[in-house]
Amino acid sequence: MLAANFPVGGAIEPSQLGVAADVALLQKHFSSITAENVMKPVTIGTGPGIYNFAPADQLIQFAQTNSIQVRGHTLLWHQTAPSWFFAGNPSDPGYRDLVRQRLETYITAVVTHFRGQVYAWDVVNEVASDTAGQTYRESSPWHAALGPDYIEYAFRAARAADPTVLLFINDYNTEHPDKRTRVLAIVQDLISKGVPIDGVGHQLHINVNTSAAGVDQALTAVESLGLINHVTELDVSLYSDPGSCYENGTGCQADYGANVPQSVLSQQATLYRQLFNVLRSHSSVRSVSTWGISDNHTWLSTFPVNRINRPLLFDSGRLPKWAFWAVVDASIVIP
Ligand code: XIL
Repeated sequence: MLAANFPVGGAIEPSQLGVAADVALLQKHFSSITAENVMKPVTIGTGPGIYNFAPADQLIQFAQTNSIQVRGHTLLWHQTAPSWFFAGNPSDPGYRDLVRQRLETYITAVVTHFRGQVYAWDVVNEVASDTAGQTYRESSPWHAALGPDYIEYAFRAARAADPTVLLFINDYNTEHPDKRTRVLAIVQDLISKGVPIDGVGHQLHINVNTSAAGVDQALTAVESLGLINHVTELDVSLYSDPGSCYENGTGCQADYGANVPQSVLSQQATLYRQLFNVLRSHSSVRSVSTWGISDNHTWLSTFPVNRINRPLLFDSGRLPKWAFWAVVDASIVIP
């Protein structure tokens, strides 16, 4: 077990449950799982009133058989949001109510289906803006249809469907002060309106040059609002890329290929150690999940560009990396 302080999770796809090495790794080291994709509206929300729960139910079944908890991700995301939610004429007087109703119906059905089977939901994912001077992600189709109120509608519908599941706003870059300010402005607005929200999910898609101090500050800031923290999608990329790499794929750091320098893996191990020390020092941190379980399968091999990446605690052979030992044993000297 990675840490006694909180459940330690990993994101998986149902197909991995057919891979013996992945199952063994999950059983040995993970106490929580997140669906990498199959609990998103893109998978579940086949159409109005039509739900594809089967792939997610496979994960739930596996988790229950193995006494592993499940984190729900996510009820709403601007990316891959099914277009049927927004069908209709935005200038019709009834359009707003129609879209709102579709959202609430969807959330009610999904949260009800998984009631008692997930301990937390990322109710909304990545709703804060990345742009200075803008709080909400205005380019989201949800924002276009409903303005910022959709966030409140989503939380209230989730709470009505399950009175006890923990409800989260989830976002990336909360370790950076500018983005954090926007996320927390949204949280404060929700709290002031009496909207049910339990915590902030910090994705923590970070890289070997990230400072753990920013994470410490983010956790403290959330605590001061009276909420709890989950780390939801942790990975430590080998590469530090400029904004242009994310915007248009230019200026990305060159691919290390198969021969990743030991110095970079050591830097990664050092950051993982510092980070877990920070996480363990906050009693408000109640769950920590990595986005994947081993370097054999990571979204960073194609995002932001195709490139070898090794961002997790276990290598492609599912063996513990220096990063793993750095986290679990403070006495180990990283080479
Ligand atoms: C990613 C998955 O890992 C990919 O397989 C999929 O193609 C796109 O979504 N932030 C999130 C996650 O909240 O849902 C994203 O997952 C990664 C970034």
